[in-house]
Amino acid sequence: MDSPYRPGFGTRPPFLAGREDLLNRQLAILSQVANSGLAAPFVTIYVGPRGVGKTTLLREIARRAADQTKLIPVWIGFDGHSDNVKGLAEALAQTITPLKSKARSLAYNFKKQLAQLSVEVSVPGLKVNSQGAEQPKDTLIPRRALTEILRSAAALTSKRKDSNGLLLVIDELQAAPMADLDIILNAVADLYRDDPEPPIAVVAAGLANTAETVAQATSFSERSDFQRVGRLGTDDSIQALLEPSLALGVMWEEPGVQKILERANGFPYLIQSLANEAWLLANPSPGSAIAAKTVDLAVEKVTATLEDGMFRSRYLSISNGEKALVEAIAQVSDSLGVATTREITALLKTTTPALSRTRESLISKGLIEAVGTGKLRFTIPGFGEYVLERTQFTDAE
Ligand SMILES: Nc1ncnc2c1ncn2[C@@H]1O[C@H](COP(=O)(O)OP(=O)(O)OP(=O)(O)O)[C@@H](O)[C@H]1O
Ligand SMILES: [Mg+2]
Repeated sequence: MDSPYRPGFGTRPPFLAGREDLLNRQLAILSQVANSGLAAPFVTIYVGPRGVGKTTLLREIARRAADQTKLIPVWIGFDGHSDNVKGLAEALAQTITPLKSKARSLAYNFKKQLAQLSVEVSVPGLKVNSQGAEQPKDTLIPRRALTEILRSAAALTSKRKDSNGLLLVIDELQAAPMADLDIILNAVADLYRDDPEPPIAVVAAGLANTAETVAQATSFSERSDFQRVGRLGTDDSIQALLEPSLALGVMWEEPGVQKILERANGFPYLIQSLANEAWLLANPSPGSAIAAKTVDLAVEKVTATLEDGMFRSRYLSISNGEKALVEAIAQVSDSLGVATTREITALLKTTTPALSRTRESLISKGLIEAVGTGKLRFTIPGFGEYVLERTQFTDAE
């Protein structure tokens, strides 16, 4: 039987555990947009470390929004090397342009503004010189064009019988260069100055440093609502692990379940990888149970893969100063992987303010996260053990 688990990034899990509260809250906001025809009161920005399930959550929101509220989702993932403003306009063009509309002047305006950003669209009789887009310093031109594009896209979607407005979904928000974020976030903020506001909602996701990135780009923060996407609790972890296999009649020996729970520590990416690896090793048939010793082997395999890949590249990407802090966290962290700043500073014979820049830098690189005041942990379980092994090795040399 094929494994039901989906290890990876942005892969839809067989069972989406522990996100009902976040989903219900978002769906309530979206249905308000659909019913009122007005913009969502704020932009929701989901923040959390790599592999915690942000993309998965956004995909589920987009899917349910389309089904339940008839908002048309337009998806874009930002990155650090392409023109994200144009990318966003293109994503809007791809979804909106094929929609037939009787609102001709709106459709014409939509395409005219797309051409301003040099997005290719065929409009008979439309001649726009796209000089504006070739002057990157003047951010007002693309910002205005983008506001117009979003405004007409939202209006076009709401004028259709089968839809109620636009849902813009932005993944990897923090990855866009500041200049792009400046244009995009301010264009969105400008929409809110309309009276009446257009029927649009924006949801986004980013790493833990997204709030600072957004604050630097614009005063838009007041209009944004940051929601943490965290690790799963025990019950949700158990569901994420058991539901997919039970649906196929496959069980797990109890100590194996415990081992996966302990090793994954609520981290969705690891639940999927460990369960998948154990499944591949066990090749179970309906009615059988995956043995605890198979889980042990799976843990070893997944750990080795992480060590050779993700852990290694993360460890190599940090400076010596950052390594010192990482090593201290690894040394003082408790059985749940949580380290207190008190113990870290005592070990390093330093103070919290003196560490703050290094700490922020490791957070923005996605290696560590704050869990409550004065507490830090590695974003991915097992990294601490890896660091300890390496440092012991270095010490012995
Ligand atoms: N709620 C959940 N229940 C079960 N599995 C999940 C859940 N959320 C995510 N996963 C699984 O975890 C893995 C990582 O999810 P995802 O790619 O959404 O994380 P992410 O936060 O977007 O990571 P990144 O920041 O690297 O993009 C995927 O294999 C996904 O199927
Ligand atoms: Mg993602």
